[in-house]
Amino acid sequence: QSTPKKIAVTGAAGQICYSLLFRLANGDLYGKSQPIELRLLDLPQAQDAVRGVVMELEDCAFPLLHNIVMTDDPRQAFEGVDAAFLVGSRPRSKGMERRDLLAANAEIFKVQGRAINEVAGRRAKILVVGNPANTNASILIANAPDFNPRQVSSMIRLDHNRALTQLARKAACGVGDIDKLVVWGNHSPTMFADWTYATAAGRPLSETIADDHWYKEVLIPEIARRGTAIIEARGASSAASAANAAIDQMRDWMHGTDGRWTSMAVISQGQYGIPEGLVCGVPVMCEDDDYSVVEGLDLDGFQKSKLDKTIEELVGERDALS
Ligand code: NAI
Repeated sequence: QSTPKKIAVTGAAGQICYSLLFRLANGDLYGKSQPIELRLLDLPQAQDAVRGVVMELEDCAFPLLHNIVMTDDPRQAFEGVDAAFLVGSRPRSKGMERRDLLAANAEIFKVQGRAINEVAGRRAKILVVGNPANTNASILIANAPDFNPRQVSSMIRLDHNRALTQLARKAACGVGDIDKLVVWGNHSPTMFADWTYATAAGRPLSETIADDHWYKEVLIPEIARRGTAIIEARGASSAASAANAAIDQMRDWMHGTDGRWTSMAVISQGQYGIPEGLVCGVPVMCEDDDYSVVEGLDLDGFQKSKLDKTIEELVGERDALS
């Protein structure tokens, strides 16, 4: 049997991980013949809770789960890893200013970036889920100078998946029929779910649906506030769907998209006027363990204004920290 793949997961005691870890152990990322080792990182005060999760993982008797390591030390967690899901982050507490939240998370991702720089496998893929995810990923990249920044992305797939379902419903097609949907920008209410290039079974979705009012006034704002709607309904933020999206994004990145588009937030090289160094949601295709940004799309005035707004927010987050 092959050597276990080492997967680090931070925020292991939290609610997203309560779904993510069991999916990983079930083989949902690497498939049913690849054993894995889980490296669970959380804060010292969360170790008892992590121990409980470990007991439950053990009680599932997952055949692929060869080893579990619990730690509060990032270097131990990331040593030689093949993949890392950075889910743990500092939530906003009462009365906390946005800038303080950004700074508290910047500190976490600085420390973890340094540890990844020193000890992670050079081909490891790092997916940042913890919010503010895009800016956390930029901080991580800035603190990992010897680590390829293309091996780091932040999660925009939940927003992409949310939009897929709403579009498929409206067009009365299957989610799997839809290609070329793009979610641009920050994982925040400024994100832009863009149907301009989207097709279902080869036909433009904007023609099939033919309802520009629905697109601009219902779809785009509903995707942007879906997270809030879930908190209102469930009394807690999205967890299982976030874990699912994290696996979807990582799996496509590793195993490819078969010529189809998906959305990933990756480091900008200046495409579409996105300042270099920002981590921003863009259309990508994945092949051979790598992504390529879909380039050369013409953006109209509406698209440009939406993209500018979300870029402006990312620049604001960067500037608030410097
Ligand atoms: P949670 O609060 O249930 O769990 C967070 C865990 O992270 C806790 O166990 C905490 O102890 C741990 N943690 C905090 N600082 C840490 C550090 N320095 N190192 C390791 N662990 C640390 O939160 P939940 O619901 O699991 O969400 C996690 C994050 O994911 C949040 O920031 C949330 O906003 C974000 N999120 C992002 C989404 C996206 O689409 N990018 C979607 C949904 C959630």
